[in-house]
Amino acid sequence: MKYRFTKYLSWRKWVVPELLRERPIHRWLVFPHSFTDDIVRSLAVEWGLGTDDLLLDPFVGAGTTVLAAKQLNIPAIGFDLSPLATLTASAKVANHEPEYVEDQWRRVRRRIRLRHANGEAQAYAELVREALPGKKLATFHGAKAAIEDLDVPAATRKFFMLALLAQIPKYSNAVPTGGWLSWTPNRRPAERLAHDMGQMVYAMLADLREAPQRGGKKWRARLADARRLPVQDGACSAVITSPPYPNRHDYTRVFGVELMFGFLDWEGTRDLRYQLLHSHPEAKPDRPAADGYEEPSFIARAIRQVAMHEERERIVAMLRGYFLDLFLSLKEVARALRPGGRAAFVVGNAQYDGVPVEVDRATAQIGEQAGLRCMEIRIVRERGNSAQQMKEHGRRPSRESVVIFEGQNGR
Ligand SMILES: C[S@@+](CC[C@H](N)C(=O)[O-])C[C@H]1O[C@@H](n2cnc3c(N)ncnc32)[C@H](O)[C@@H]1O
Repeated sequence: MKYRFTKYLSWRKWVVPELLRERPIHRWLVFPHSFTDDIVRSLAVEWGLGTDDLLLDPFVGAGTTVLAAKQLNIPAIGFDLSPLATLTASAKVANHEPEYVEDQWRRVRRRIRLRHANGEAQAYAELVREALPGKKLATFHGAKAAIEDLDVPAATRKFFMLALLAQIPKYSNAVPTGGWLSWTPNRRPAERLAHDMGQMVYAMLADLREAPQRGGKKWRARLADARRLPVQDGACSAVITSPPYPNRHDYTRVFGVELMFGFLDWEGTRDLRYQLLHSHPEAKPDRPAADGYEEPSFIARAIRQVAMHEERERIVAMLRGYFLDLFLSLKEVARALRPGGRAAFVVGNAQYDGVPVEVDRATAQIGEQAGLRCMEIRIVRERGNSAQQMKEHGRRPSRESVVIFEGQNGR
């Protein structure tokens, strides 16, 4: 099957998160795999989206799509399996009243003080105890308790939780490095927490005071699996999203400290690891039936080539599962999208043992199996391969692309 490939290299900075770190509200917490709001702005203009539309992001992450939609006054809803993602996105799109939040902050602030380890740390998983040892975890725990004890709307509690979670990297011995955590002693003293969090809260309030006020509950982020979306058939006019890339990165490890400090115990985190999209080898999701799925022949060929290398069983299973999961997510998008609606999937190609895995072309083909019509594949970036791969297989850039679809029948 032939698809129209077009070069959109002027979008290359839009598929990495750096620009978001300077942008009001987006910057409250940026994920290493976020795209930027420029993609949403550009597609919203191109597709003529407005106040009567509903924009969907089934992999909401740090909430870039739903927040950009709010800034453009386009109703939007996002879903994610990670409670860290839905808290981040919800806090960013909620309608906060800055004066009220500032008053509440004074109450929280009074309760955040240096605490000595007092046994409460035992309730946390070992990873959290090692990342934030002794007084650090006790002080973080005290701040969390102060937030939980507040008698305020859920959105205000999420606002403060986000400000607290955003402090973890400043204090943690565990440093996200690519898809993993590496360990470096962190000497920042726990007594700085109240000051650091206060600075963050005031920067967040300043962002809110600059933002246009929008009432109502037209922007939301909720926990749900992209393979089983709680959305009615044909309810959405557009989709802008980015599923995890099949690069072995496990978000439950990269964000392990945040997840197990703020939301889940060790077993809950492990269950989330299993249930995420099969983009990392430890996933073993419970999936709905994949009727109508046929693995694209060029993907089957690439997987066979990878399988010829030793100890590749888990990568082979991951790649098989990944494309199956893409099918299930695309099928849900096809069902949720009204006829004539548009969808954009930001995806990244992969390479194993020098074998290219063309995720963009596969997404186009699988999307058509799922009931969408592929209009175009926009190549936005060509990433170099790793130094190791380069040595063994020469320079072979991997594409990052935006695959554009049209909804056909909302089936
Ligand atoms: C590439 S990130 C999305 C980044 C987002 N576009 C942003 O700008 O921040 C992919 C997200 O998919 C989520 N995810 C993985 N498997 C999922 C599933 N089965 N259903 C819903 N979300 C899932 C991950 O938790 C992660 O937040």
